[in-house]
Amino acid sequence: MKINISNKSAGFPTVRLRRLRRSTAIRDLMQEIHVSVKDLICPLFVQEGSKKPQIIGSMPEIQRIPLSKIIDEVQAISDLGIRAIILFGIPYRKDDKGSSAFDDNGVVQQSAALIRKHFGDKIAIITDVCLCQYTSHGHCGIVVNKKVDNDSSIDTLTKIAVSHARAGVDIVAPSAMMDGQVKAIREGLDEAGFTDIAIIGYSAKHASTLYAPFRDAAHCTPEFGDRRTYQMPFTNIGEAMREIDMDINEGVDIIMIKPAIPYLDIIYQVRKNTHLPVAAYSVSGEYALIKAAAMEGWVDENALMKEFLTSIKRAGADMIITYHAKKMADLLLDQ
Ligand code: PBG
Ligand code: ZN
Repeated sequence: MKINISNKSAGFPTVRLRRLRRSTAIRDLMQEIHVSVKDLICPLFVQEGSKKPQIIGSMPEIQRIPLSKIIDEVQAISDLGIRAIILFGIPYRKDDKGSSAFDDNGVVQQSAALIRKHFGDKIAIITDVCLCQYTSHGHCGIVVNKKVDNDSSIDTLTKIAVSHARAGVDIVAPSAMMDGQVKAIREGLDEAGFTDIAIIGYSAKHASTLYAPFRDAAHCTPEFGDRRTYQMPFTNIGEAMREIDMDINEGVDIIMIKPAIPYLDIIYQVRKNTHLPVAAYSVSGEYALIKAAAMEGWVDENALMKEFLTSIKRAGADMIITYHAKKMADLLLDQ
């Protein structure tokens, strides 16, 4: 039907969208996109060999948690209604092969086992599977002749994933951006009998400057070069879709796009073109930008957090990894 927004005399009904915005009650009724606490995945940095939580300068209110405090921290997260966490380990010792990453007694393995024992199935445990926190050179793979070698890296990533599965995690999230990593990990998990452990692919992980606070938090800045030989260029969308197609062909269970806010177009396109669940990772730099502006008094942190997270869902994400998880969950409890 043709509608006429201004000319009453033409005999058409006059549309006035403001009728639907008259009060909070009516606006609530009209709300299309909701962020639920069930959508949130809370990141957790666990530090080996420390006794006290440590502050992270570039990520206010986020801490590196010692193993001895991990249960208290997950309890606080769970009390807010959050059901999923993603663990990042900060090991005591690094070497050129990243051996502490696939040690069954490693910091992530110990954390996962403790959390599983204490919380049972109440909390979904996701682990980041990468090498950069564990290698002395800080790259996400094995370095051979000053280059990150793809195929030896995926062998190690598989060992890490299987070791995390043995510790009791639900989902592994390989973030190294090596070609074939999802296939190798799927096969490794299946051979070891972990057919029901899911994989979230960091499918389109872009080489972003927004990871700087994370590298500060997890001590994983590369010693030489940068990550552009393995992470995606942010200039390309066709290539992002190819990365996603590859992960789907390799048997990934959930697709992830990272970062989130400057990459909503990619989230939207993935949502339109696949039937897989889509996760978005709102990264450390996104958190830091909001936090810094809020600390200056230039923006309202809660309002901006809510607007950004809602926009990520509106673009098509089913779940969001965010450093604001606890604050958002708290806000949702108040509403
Ligand atoms: C490790 C990893 C990184 C992030 C998640 N996993 C750092 C990187 O790739 O340099 C970034 C997360 C964030 O910035 O919040 N591969
Ligand atoms: Zn890495």
